[in-house]
Amino acid sequence: MRRKVIAGNWKMNNDLNGTVSLISEMKKEMQGKNLPAEVIVCPPFTNLETASALLKDSSIKLGAQNIYFEESGAFTGEISPDMLKSAGCEFVIIGHSERRTIFGETDLSINKKIKTAIRHGLKPIFCIGETLEEREKGVTFNVIESQLRKGLEGITETELQNLILAYEPVWAIGTGKNATPEQAQEVHKFIRTLISKLFSANFSHQIVIQYGGSVKAENAKELLSQPDIDGALVGGACLKADSFVKIIEAA
Ligand code: 13P
Repeated sequence: MRRKVIAGNWKMNNDLNGTVSLISEMKKEMQGKNLPAEVIVCPPFTNLETASALLKDSSIKLGAQNIYFEESGAFTGEISPDMLKSAGCEFVIIGHSERRTIFGETDLSINKKIKTAIRHGLKPIFCIGETLEEREKGVTFNVIESQLRKGLEGITETELQNLILAYEPVWAIGTGKNATPEQAQEVHKFIRTLISKLFSANFSHQIVIQYGGSVKAENAKELLSQPDIDGALVGGACLKADSFVKIIEAA
């Protein structure tokens, strides 16, 4: 049985006060409940340290939303792996479709980021997913395969032990239009099979593959009960403690 992992990607939401209230509310909502899933929150960079302090006495883990692939130096505006670690991060989201489309990240830079994160002991949450146009053209599997191969190029199975994959169809992000459980399961199964070809059958059974894209309390249970869906990467619905905790309960 693979563990279930529910991560909240706050994106560019919540200032310091908002961070304190959301984390405090989450802790209150989760208190006394025996929640079997691993829970991760990914606030903006400026709030990581505060979040880390607030999470010290809880089982909720901390992640960042991005990283740079160099260790230090003249890279104005970027954040290094050591900075994330010293702020208390255990996880880091890499290759989110908003980073790819709005900020021009490529498979190559994503591959470098994954390698850097692993080298520094950070656990990547590596995002892949097709656009609506690609789905309508019938090239979903080609896109997924290419993103996965290029993103993981030159990395060994041993190095990937702590990596989480997140399948996020771009057309389902922030649109309220989630993939149906069948659509999501079909791609998750494809990803798992590909992992078994690229690495090993054993590793493909272990690796956690999250689904992301309009996950909410109302659809979480159905999505999370699919055999190859091991968790969720939640955007909008993680900004309210009660809806996020309902998703965790659904897992
Ligand atoms: P929404 O849940 O708002 O669709 O966002 C999903 C996402 O992009 C998580 O990384």
